[in-house]
Amino acid sequence: MTGQIDVLTTGWSDGQTVEVGAQMYGLASDTIARTLFTAEAAAPAVDAVTASLPDIFRGIYQQAVLPPLLRRLPLPPNVRYERARNRAWAAVSKTISSYRQDGGPHGDVLSMLLKTQDDAGEPLGDAEIHAQIMTLLVAGIDTTAVALTWAVHLLCQYPDVQERLRIETTEVLGTRTATWEDLPRLDLARRVITETLRLYPPGWIFTRTTSAEARLADAVIPSETTLVYSPYLIHRDPRFNARPDFFDPDRWLPEREHTRGTLIPFGGGARKCLGDNYAMTLATLALSTIVAQWRLSHGGLPTPAVEPRMTLAPHKVQVRVESLESEPLADSIRQ
Ligand code: HEM
Repeated sequence: MTGQIDVLTTGWSDGQTVEVGAQMYGLASDTIARTLFTAEAAAPAVDAVTASLPDIFRGIYQQAVLPPLLRRLPLPPNVRYERARNRAWAAVSKTISSYRQDGGPHGDVLSMLLKTQDDAGEPLGDAEIHAQIMTLLVAGIDTTAVALTWAVHLLCQYPDVQERLRIETTEVLGTRTATWEDLPRLDLARRVITETLRLYPPGWIFTRTTSAEARLADAVIPSETTLVYSPYLIHRDPRFNARPDFFDPDRWLPEREHTRGTLIPFGGGARKCLGDNYAMTLATLALSTIVAQWRLSHGGLPTPAVEPRMTLAPHKVQVRVESLESEPLADSIRQ
């Protein structure tokens, strides 16, 4: 994570305007792909998979909203989706074969999957490993990228919070890139991410289908009923959060009161996100490093329009970045 965050933040120049969504997508996809496959031989697969994913994400969303007949016609979006899936599938399959041949382990997720046994004590087959890898890529990249993009946008909209965060990062990091060991001291950064996930949960709408008659509060729900729920609406319900539309990272201070179970950006229960700690870690380290090294502003632009995709993504967040390396940082902030 630290290596990839370094690549991101050293790639910017003073006074540049960056398209935050694309930058965060690059960070999340490179980091997650390298967590899955670290071996040198997997580099072409990482490139092929990360290049195919945007078409795969668009395809999954379109498949979910198109009527069944249109999903099967050879329309250009369907063809692009199919081609992208085949390309990613071929790249991952080649990597699985090369890992099986060289024997590993490489200290990555693919090596772990190759050692994993199923409930019958059998090693996982290629199709199962492939499905696990694709699930992690699809579930992890866009969600984490979108969360970081909203966080940067909110820090531009609330410059007082950005300055407070800079006091924390100056103390903990100076201007260096954050590492795992810094996490316990990046308290405000974590609260900023949590509050961002409350206001803009990337997974904004989910369904559940009852497998038996169920009771929910006073309602009896028959078996085979599909229920829809939205973390976005629950997070903004004034019964659970005072001034719900206001960005206030301090509402997550431990001494403040919270209604249990009403913050659900990662879902809950048996199907809760398995990447929650990974995502929180990457987002906290990345946001802290960005704020430690760069001042962010977007000239008071209004909240960007929301793109209804698989995730609740902002449409184009353009931010001007000013380097803090040359400023006598600690003094200027503490005054
Ligand atoms: C800010 C980032 C993320 C958010 C907001 C998020 C959100 C969620 C939510 C709400 C669910 C539950 C879906 C449901 O109830 O149907 C979920 C499931 C899942 N997430 Fe995440 N996620 C994030 C990052 C990640 C990452 C980084 C990974 C892995 C690299 C990941 C892997 C998964 C997987 C595999 C599941 C399915 C778990 C299961 O069904 O057993 N997620 N995520």
